[in-house]
Amino acid sequence: MPLKPDNCTIVIFGAHSDLAARKLFPSLYELALWGHLPDEYRIIGVGRAALSHEEFRARVHEKMAGLFPDTLQDEAGFRSFSARLFYVKVDFALREEYPALQKEIMEGAREVATGHNLLFYLATPPALAPVIVRNLDHAGLGEKDGSSGNWRKIIVEKPYGSNLQTARELNAVIGNVFHEERIFRIDHYLGKETVQNIMVFRFSNGIFEPLWNRNNIAYVAITIAEGFGIRDRGAFYEEAGLLRDIMQNHALQLLASVAMEPPVDFSADAVRDEKAKLLRSIRLATPLSVEGTVVLGQYEGYHFEKNVAPDSTVETFAAIKFFVDNWRWKDVPFFVKAGKNLAETVTEIVITFKCPPQNYFGTAESCCYTANQVILRIQPEETIAIKFGAKRPGEALITDPVFMKFDYKTSFTEAGMTPYHRLLLDAMAGDQMNFIRQDSVEYSWAIIDAIREAVATQVPESYPVHSWGPQSVHHIYG
Ligand code: BG6
Repeated sequence: MPLKPDNCTIVIFGAHSDLAARKLFPSLYELALWGHLPDEYRIIGVGRAALSHEEFRARVHEKMAGLFPDTLQDEAGFRSFSARLFYVKVDFALREEYPALQKEIMEGAREVATGHNLLFYLATPPALAPVIVRNLDHAGLGEKDGSSGNWRKIIVEKPYGSNLQTARELNAVIGNVFHEERIFRIDHYLGKETVQNIMVFRFSNGIFEPLWNRNNIAYVAITIAEGFGIRDRGAFYEEAGLLRDIMQNHALQLLASVAMEPPVDFSADAVRDEKAKLLRSIRLATPLSVEGTVVLGQYEGYHFEKNVAPDSTVETFAAIKFFVDNWRWKDVPFFVKAGKNLAETVTEIVITFKCPPQNYFGTAESCCYTANQVILRIQPEETIAIKFGAKRPGEALITDPVFMKFDYKTSFTEAGMTPYHRLLLDAMAGDQMNFIRQDSVEYSWAIIDAIREAVATQVPESYPVHSWGPQSVHHIYG
């Protein structure tokens, strides 16, 4: 078993959020059951509702029972976890309410010897992050107020800010209170086994990397498709839209992982240096360039979702043709498509190689019918496939595409951790490899801001639910 993290107190702002209910509390509970949490820990939920510790524990239990009834079969396990759950009512904007939190943290730490190690988790809308951090600082809970030998860290959920300017402001505010090495900007995609494997696939195998460039690759397609709508997140989606919800983070991080240069070593900063360089090399959109390279869509019936304006022009789909202006990728298109309520739920990266210079063998279609592809299926049915041409049995020399496949489930028996399990542990242990650094978050916003400005007057094209998006999406492949 890996080393346990240091004893600590975990403080979750947004304790009643959907994220806390679906991901944070269930992940922490499972980590506790599996023995991965520190010997001594306390988890303090912070929210606006006035609740006692007991009421809060009952609420967490009720939510978990509704969402994941199977995980609660171990009632004794839950009771032992729940005894370490506490609650403090704080109106995030009110400075005068923070001393109650400070008191709960310090008194609790003395009682159960969690030490003064503190991990804050901001599961709150981006606009609230600066005020929370300022108020933590004012209450003496910032990193600089920590005693020596103890750590104080902060995890900030995505979207980190809502554009380049607010992300910079947030970086400045948090940077005043925590050192960069203590700031964990989370993108849960980076905690996925299959996403972490992209670098391993590229850099632990000698046969792919020499081909991984503009000389051999025709184009790269990244798809993040979801077969369901915005669910009950209307208010959030009206603020964010797909460009900020998925493109700025998950999609650009996949692009960075598949296209980055090899790092000098596998330390967190060496890897993040290369990702930052790659993001910086992505060509910024202009009002002229978005013509035929950016298509936005909105699924039919979006207006009827709860908390959505009847005339909303928020996008629930985007298809973008990116270019990476560097030596390796010049002129290779990266087609990135993401959307809600599409035909399927699938995330994958397809690397398509150039066709052979001559077509010797008759094929049913063109010679590109059998163009080689590497298909990295991120989820579900996690696999890696290589497509190549093979002779169709029979007299004629005709090629057909065939696939060689690696399947995680059949090759490995270990049950992987979910992204939130892994990233919570990484943050406690101080490993920043799979968290976004300040420079990358800013480069990503610069890319998205440029697109948003360039399409400001575009009304998203409507598309039928369970289709592959708006009709004009094929323009970007032209
Ligand atoms: C979240 C987005 O970050 O990621 C959601 O806010 C999206 O809109 C989700 O559905 C997808 O994550 P996963 O891991 O379920 O593919």
